[in-house]
Amino acid sequence: MSLKKYLYSFITILNFQEIHSEHYLLSNLKDNSGREGVVIASPSRSNPNYYYHWVRDAGLVVREYVEEYKYTSDLSLKRDIRRFVQKWIQVEIEHQRTAGESWANLGEPIFTVDGRIYPHPWGRPQSDGPAIRALTMTEWALLMIQEGREEDARKLYGGKIPAEGPIKKDLEYVAHHWFESNFDLWEEVKGVHFFTLMAQRIALVKGADLAAYMGDHGASDYYLRQADRIKSVLNSFYSAEKAHLIPTINQVDGWKNKVSELDTASILAINYFSFDDVYSVDSLAAQNTAAQIVDVFRNLYKINSDKPNLAPMIGRYSEDVYDGNGFSGGNPWYLTTHAMAEYLCRRDLSKERTSPNLKKIPFSGWQFLERSASLADSKGHFSEQADRVTGEPRGAADLTWSYASYLRAIRVCKRAGVPLGTN
Ligand code: NOJ
Ligand code: NOJ
Repeated sequence: MSLKKYLYSFITILNFQEIHSEHYLLSNLKDNSGREGVVIASPSRSNPNYYYHWVRDAGLVVREYVEEYKYTSDLSLKRDIRRFVQKWIQVEIEHQRTAGESWANLGEPIFTVDGRIYPHPWGRPQSDGPAIRALTMTEWALLMIQEGREEDARKLYGGKIPAEGPIKKDLEYVAHHWFESNFDLWEEVKGVHFFTLMAQRIALVKGADLAAYMGDHGASDYYLRQADRIKSVLNSFYSAEKAHLIPTINQVDGWKNKVSELDTASILAINYFSFDDVYSVDSLAAQNTAAQIVDVFRNLYKINSDKPNLAPMIGRYSEDVYDGNGFSGGNPWYLTTHAMAEYLCRRDLSKERTSPNLKKIPFSGWQFLERSASLADSKGHFSEQADRVTGEPRGAADLTWSYASYLRAIRVCKRAGVPLGTN
């Protein structure tokens, strides 16, 4: 194939997948009755049943729309996003009210589409949820201020004790509970987590900005002090001996199978929450962790080792056994593969770039996206996972986060201006 033809096929598959991802993502932003603002994790109602609103997934997905709002000049798209974000905020205000009465409090991770607490035993609390929710709302409020819609922002923050606005409610929860053990984003391990602390720190730092703007100076100082304490705890997550970040310290409960302590959640955390040079994309910790993750998954799954010249599909962690419905063995996930793509493009965007002494990852961000897009079916559907041997869809179909993570990575990679098809 000529280089031109190769690049052309590459662009088409990525564009095709982008259009489909936008479309399938949109249809997951409401429930079956058309109630908007609910973000279903997936339309799948059995084997597995993911027809629920996870606070984490929803907050991350809406945050992607907030980013899109920032960059687009399309006024009707802006209007649609504004309407949708407001609906999501209404839904989360209800969730906060309901969760306030449960033992997990605002760390309640899952709600039914009609706003009830997930009625089964589960890994509770999950403290990344309120942090991500506060972060997304805070970024939205700051945008509204910039646009002269200060009243909207004021309602969202609501600066009183007891906190009345949804942002301040979550910030108070984060500031007072961040050091308590809770379940990780994969809902398996109870302890103190890198992903969660990174989310909590950025939520508090940005929240402190908003608090100061609202004249709530005492709260602002308090949030910043907690953010600083989190920053010092974050220092203990890099193992110089292992030369990678570890996902959890002080485990008190949950699964104990992650003996490698290498987890793609660390890369997700850096992409989503790295701020003011704390574990930036070009830190030694980030680069070493990413390189080791690529190495591990290249050799772990047959679909990867069969095609060593293609970018490998990336999983959560090597000991994973969750197959998306049961426990027959782990598979690569779309959202973690997209996270590796996003990471590499972010690193290319960053001024520092790779230090010459570090182990190089022999694939570009675009190549990870291309690999992932090539495994979607002919209509561009992404599920949660791809079979480790055949590449067939596994786990929840049309996982909302799979689409949002693809669009996010594409956005970052386009901005990075990395030429297609280069390393
Ligand atoms: C479902 C969770 O969402 C998944 O992450 C986990 O691996 C399994 N349950 C096992 O707890
Ligand atoms: C399982 C994943 O482990 C978790 O991170 C996610 O929130 C839920 N599925 C819903 O997508």
